[in-house]
Amino acid sequence: MTSAVPAQTSLPRHVAIIMDGNGRWAKKRHLPRAAGHVAGVAAVRNVVRAAIDIGLENLTLYAFSSENWKRPRTEVNHLMGLFRSYFCEDVNELVERNVRMRIIGSRDRVAIDIRTMIEDCERRTAANTGCNVTFAFDYGAQEEIAAAARAVAEEVRRGELDPARITPAVFAARLLTSELPDPDLIIRTSGERRLSNFLLWQAAYAELLFVDTLWPDFSRAQFIEALNTFSHRERRFGALAPEAVA
Ligand code: IPE
Ligand code: IPE
Ligand code: MG
Repeated sequence: MTSAVPAQTSLPRHVAIIMDGNGRWAKKRHLPRAAGHVAGVAAVRNVVRAAIDIGLENLTLYAFSSENWKRPRTEVNHLMGLFRSYFCEDVNELVERNVRMRIIGSRDRVAIDIRTMIEDCERRTAANTGCNVTFAFDYGAQEEIAAAARAVAEEVRRGELDPARITPAVFAARLLTSELPDPDLIIRTSGERRLSNFLLWQAAYAELLFVDTLWPDFSRAQFIEALNTFSHRERRFGALAPEAVA
């Protein structure tokens, strides 16, 4: 049974997904891990298309962490090959569908040609006004926070910022997500229940949803189901629910 998409007013403004379980998906089928990553790209396409069709404002996908470089060289190379083809093959569709594409993460460690592709995707979609699709690629929240702290410290040193004026908003403006609202919903597939260095600052009041589905099996219907689950969560942001206020 496919559930209906929640009303626009009950949709999260920003959904972020930790796409996990490609390796286990492949193992279950006695396939090499690489096959799981290939199937994972198909799931990315499904979910991006679903987000656009639904009219979601912001979708962020955790594609490669700053710690994923620790994996065997062959796996990293295969993943980089998949990113190359995704960024190169899908950009036209994203341009046409009015998607604004961003990539957050360190750009110092990736190959020059990938960096050029990333810049090209961002440039070609910069004027688009539809769904903001952001890939966290070579991303680590601790690195991001340390870089923001460095930026703030530099401004203080140059005499441009008074330390007394450093508020959460001032700090957040130095993060890689400064142009995006904080995620309302963070989904992690594959049954793992952790954030693995993803959007640690921005997750302050996110609803967390852990599903057992392995990423390559995560379908449009499951995405819609996750949006429905979110629409029934009560968010209080530290205050009281309206009915509890006398
Ligand atoms: C997620 O799947 C993809 C990346 C982290 C790049 P995994 O490769 O982590 O799959 P599992 O967790 O080993 O099943
Ligand atoms: C998190 O998955 C990173 C991505 C989904 C890109 P991992 O598979 O790398 O996380 P851990 O190692 O299980 O925490
Ligand atoms: Mg994993």
